[in-house]
Amino acid sequence: MTFEEMWADLAPIGRSSDSGGYFRQPWASAETELRTWFAGAAEARGLRVETDPLGNQVAWWDVGSGPAVLTGSHLDSVLDGGAYDGPLGVVSGLAAIDELRSRGVVPSRPVGVSVFAEEEGSRFGLACLGSRLATGTLDWDTARELRDRNGVFLPDALAAAGLGSSVPGPWSELASVGCFVELHVEQGRDLVDRGAAVGVASGIWPHGRYRFDFAGEANHAGTTVMADRRDPMLTYAMTALAANKQARLADVRATFGRVQVTPNGTNAVPSAVAAWLDARADTGAALEELVSAVTRQARDRAERDGTSLSVTAESVSDLVSFDADLAARLAADHAVGDWPVIPTAAGHDAGILSAAGIPTAMLFVRNPTGISHSPAEEATMADCLVGVSALADTLERLAS
Ligand code: HGY
Ligand code: MN
Ligand code: MN
Repeated sequence: MTFEEMWADLAPIGRSSDSGGYFRQPWASAETELRTWFAGAAEARGLRVETDPLGNQVAWWDVGSGPAVLTGSHLDSVLDGGAYDGPLGVVSGLAAIDELRSRGVVPSRPVGVSVFAEEEGSRFGLACLGSRLATGTLDWDTARELRDRNGVFLPDALAAAGLGSSVPGPWSELASVGCFVELHVEQGRDLVDRGAAVGVASGIWPHGRYRFDFAGEANHAGTTVMADRRDPMLTYAMTALAANKQARLADVRATFGRVQVTPNGTNAVPSAVAAWLDARADTGAALEELVSAVTRQARDRAERDGTSLSVTAESVSDLVSFDADLAARLAADHAVGDWPVIPTAAGHDAGILSAAGIPTAMLFVRNPTGISHSPAEEATMADCLVGVSALADTLERLAS
């Protein structure tokens, strides 16, 4: 099955007929269908598929010996996401093995293609949940307390998806991994601005997700004079504006993309507003400065509005600097010259594996608009196929 055929297989799974975007939330039907598809596509290639209690998967090409070379990415999406973020790395991994075989290459090391669960954290709020548990950087006692927006606990979601028979934890399949290379659609315009189809990641910005709970006093929208109100929506609104201004001034990133209003009525001053800040900066200190500046301004405003505020860090990822020698080695000596080595402000499982001590690299494939986490995310088929060859070259370099 060619890359194009695999890609066509996946296209309809979890796709909204309204927006054309994808809803592939973990341990729900579409993502379960994708996991089944992956196992089938791997077995059709004679690869040995291993699955852990969380639904993380790896398909092994059992050749050679010694530390394995692992590639792969994720199949889950953000809400109303694009087609490429995640699946491009998984399908390219399978297609790269096909290409190595068509070249007659027999690697001297085992080669695997992995799929990590809940990379986006779109259901349980913690980014890279699958790879954090698989690398042991998150323990099950903490993870088991996570709940989704409907109050479903993680263990119950796993059980409903036919998983979780044993306790998820550090995954023995990673013990044999000597290095990990994740291919991913670029979520920005660096490559398109450089006229390059493929790039290599230098690192990942520190980033985090912080829940802001604003509490006020529910009251009548008509009979409550403005001066008597304790309106959490006002405090939230000023905080969102302050975050945007703070990020512009410091040339970092701040987004409030998710808000939950209680009781969310039209003719009542709300009693509470929960809002999630996605904050990202090029250094840990800048991230800390951004979050504390926004928190400080939110508290000042709450004082004025007579509301209260609590802030909870729900998902934090430190700066990742990928192995510079590995990145340079992979970027060098290609027919088109050296591939550019570029940073990203997007988080990835590669960042978790790198932080866990596995030598890690990332390849990026050009995104003509740079748009991501949107139905408009795209990559040309020509660039996707260049990415497959680039990944095959990379695997050949690493596994021979
Ligand atoms: O949010 C991110 O940066 C990644 O796409 N999970
Ligand atoms: Mn993403
Ligand atoms: Mn991704």
